[in-house]
Amino acid sequence: MERRRGMGKTALLAVLCFCVRAAAGSDPEAEMNFEGIESKFSLRTPAEPDEDVCYLVPGQMDSLAQCNFNQTSKTFVVIHGWTVTGMYESWVPKLVDALYKREPDSNVIVVDWLVRAQQHYPVSAAYTKLVGKDVAMFIDWMEEKFNYPLNNVHLLGYSLGAHAAGIAGSLTKKKVNRITGLDPAGPTFEYADAPIRLSPDDADFVDVLHTYTRGSPDRSIGIQKPVGHIDIYPNGGGFQPGCNLGEALRLIAEKGFSDVDQLVKCSHERSIHLFIDSLLYEEKPSMAYRCNTKEAFEKGLCLSCRKNRCNNLGYKVNRVRTKRNTKMYLKTRAQMPYKVFHYQVKIHFFGKTSVTKVDQPFLISLYGTLDESENIAFTLPEISSNKTFSFLIYTEVDIGDLLMLKLQWEKDTFFSWSDWWTPFAFTIQRVRVKSGETQKKVVFCSRDGSSRLGKGEEAAIFVKCLEQPVSRKRGGAKKASKENSAHESA
Ligand SMILES: *[C@@H]1O[C@H](CO)[C@@H](O)[C@H](O)[C@H]1NC(C)=O
Ligand SMILES: *[C@@H]1O[C@H](CO)[C@@H](O)[C@H](O)[C@H]1NC(C)=O
Repeated sequence: MERRRGMGKTALLAVLCFCVRAAAGSDPEAEMNFEGIESKFSLRTPAEPDEDVCYLVPGQMDSLAQCNFNQTSKTFVVIHGWTVTGMYESWVPKLVDALYKREPDSNVIVVDWLVRAQQHYPVSAAYTKLVGKDVAMFIDWMEEKFNYPLNNVHLLGYSLGAHAAGIAGSLTKKKVNRITGLDPAGPTFEYADAPIRLSPDDADFVDVLHTYTRGSPDRSIGIQKPVGHIDIYPNGGGFQPGCNLGEALRLIAEKGFSDVDQLVKCSHERSIHLFIDSLLYEEKPSMAYRCNTKEAFEKGLCLSCRKNRCNNLGYKVNRVRTKRNTKMYLKTRAQMPYKVFHYQVKIHFFGKTSVTKVDQPFLISLYGTLDESENIAFTLPEISSNKTFSFLIYTEVDIGDLLMLKLQWEKDTFFSWSDWWTPFAFTIQRVRVKSGETQKKVVFCSRDGSSRLGKGEEAAIFVKCLEQPVSRKRGGAKKASKENSAHESA
């Protein structure tokens, strides 16, 4: 408390000077001096994931044995972010618990930098350098004194903690295996150079989830630019489903005001819960797809898995390392388990007269071997006569192999004179559907050769065509992927 009140410009200046010196490479003698370490390393246990029962102390060999650190298993190091209350947030024990459920023999360490994390945001943001240095010293100590393989170390940092993890990774003498950045903080880091923020150089593999990247880059809570080998933007990365005000009010009614703090950061914190989801629901892995823009993803143009274009979100990510950062997208549910199934739908709208309409509401129903998903609502930004349109739909239901499809063009919710005066219908012969999760393509045919699709009229029904596209040989595949990338860059 004393220190907090006393934290002024001088102290901050001292912090910054210290960092400059640290970056310039302090002498080796000082490096074995652990006195400057203020962060604490709490080895949590599966039995009490929410309690700090034992601290590992750099320089004190016996603390490892006292805390039952398992030197033959892997270690997760969890780094929290900025905190208003000065206390751990409720996600910490949830993540610890999920890590132990998935890897019961592992060591889950929570880095406690709460004192430095409860300052004014810019002060706490500057402290990430010292926290990163603390963590790096701790890891180097384990490596040097116990030959603990850094190949066993996975850092997980949330918000400011993601940048602390990145700094730690850049300072360790050998590279740690993996860093997962959970919605790394945006303010002061969006335009920062790689050494003082999370970047792909900080570990053998760096994966990042971006869940709350709204507004102009310097105002966005989460960093907008890609900072890892793989950067996943669930639901476009801007805002997460279930985090709107209505949902917040429902939760307050249910649980009272205690979790208001959580609600404010709902989208930001979703990054953590998506990772927890990947630990707990192994059999329901969420798939993300590489895409140049979220607009192209919304059109369903990016559901390819060729050449590592798709990947698992979270714990079981495939370590794909490309020279350029890879941006990936997916949709999710509003609650855990978050997994949905993605489909690209392609339709050619035949029209006798030349008609263009914007923002048209549709309902699509899919029927398959396992289940069905009815009345999935979507809006087409534009449709016009004799043109093909592609769009993305998704459902939480595992439909299995597709058998039948219904399409309905809805009335506008408001009364529109133009629709009343000029009733209009398109004609549709085929609907092409590609599943992201199975990579299977199905062509649906109208049962009568062509079906009428009129606004406000009943649904048009399509069944699997008798002749299906044959699976493409190599040459064809190449051509198709070229088409895809052309779409992507379009
Ligand atoms: C340490 O972890 C290994 C697996 O990595 C496991 O076989 C062993 O039982 C663990 N030791 C203790 C004491 O829990
Ligand atoms: C659309 O194409 C069909 C034939 O495929 C044609 O009969 C019709 O006139 C075309 N509509 C327009 C608006 O060009």
